[in-house]
Amino acid sequence: NADRPLRGVSVLVTAGPTREPLDPVRYLGNRSSGRMGYALAEALCERGAQVVLVTGPSALPPPPAVAELVRVETALQMHAEVMRRSPACDIFVATAAVADYRPAAPAGQKIKKSADALTVHLVRNPDILAEVAALPRPPFTLGFAAETHDVETAARGKLRDKRLDMIAANHVGGTVGGFEHSENALLVIWNGGQREWPMMPKVELARALAMLLEERYAARQAA
Ligand code: C5P
Repeated sequence: NADRPLRGVSVLVTAGPTREPLDPVRYLGNRSSGRMGYALAEALCERGAQVVLVTGPSALPPPPAVAELVRVETALQMHAEVMRRSPACDIFVATAAVADYRPAAPAGQKIKKSADALTVHLVRNPDILAEVAALPRPPFTLGFAAETHDVETAARGKLRDKRLDMIAANHVGGTVGGFEHSENALLVIWNGGQREWPMMPKVELARALAMLLEERYAARQAA
């Protein structure tokens, strides 16, 4: 089917931030809006894919065309939902800004202020994308790398270390693009090629990226 080229292909997408509880009322979070992931999920649906979206808390309306929407809060919840579904997916797209660390032992009750300083012990969260890519029969994997400097070097490192099929890198922390912005620029790298898009609306970027993803996925299937 020419205009639904991803028909029959199942894609698992993670999006948004995670929230790591400190106590029942507080959490550690980040500035991810979920916009890039939601736009990409939408663009993949437009191309005929069966999309399951696992999302951390986002204020955005979820893309209406997704086959399944799974709402999570913490990295551990996202990890569980993804690992359960990843054996059945053809493509895994990790746009979520997963917290690298979580409070080791969230307090059962609201932490009261008393001392002048408070120390919170953090432990590492599982790397969801790396774990999916390390499965015995991994899906086609697309990761994202949000970097404040040395974007290309960091992205190539992640492509290699996490054994991904493709990585989309962008510069964050500047005044335009990235977190909390509706525009972004991307450098996409895979083994044997790369493509770069200048600053443009995330919705347009998502359409272009979905098309490239489809191309690279087809190339891997043919190999
Ligand atoms: O290593 P870094 O966190 O920069 O890698 C970013 C990529 O890895 C993103 O695609 C992100 O969704 C994914 N990731 C993940 N689980 C983590 C950390 C990152 O899936 N715990």
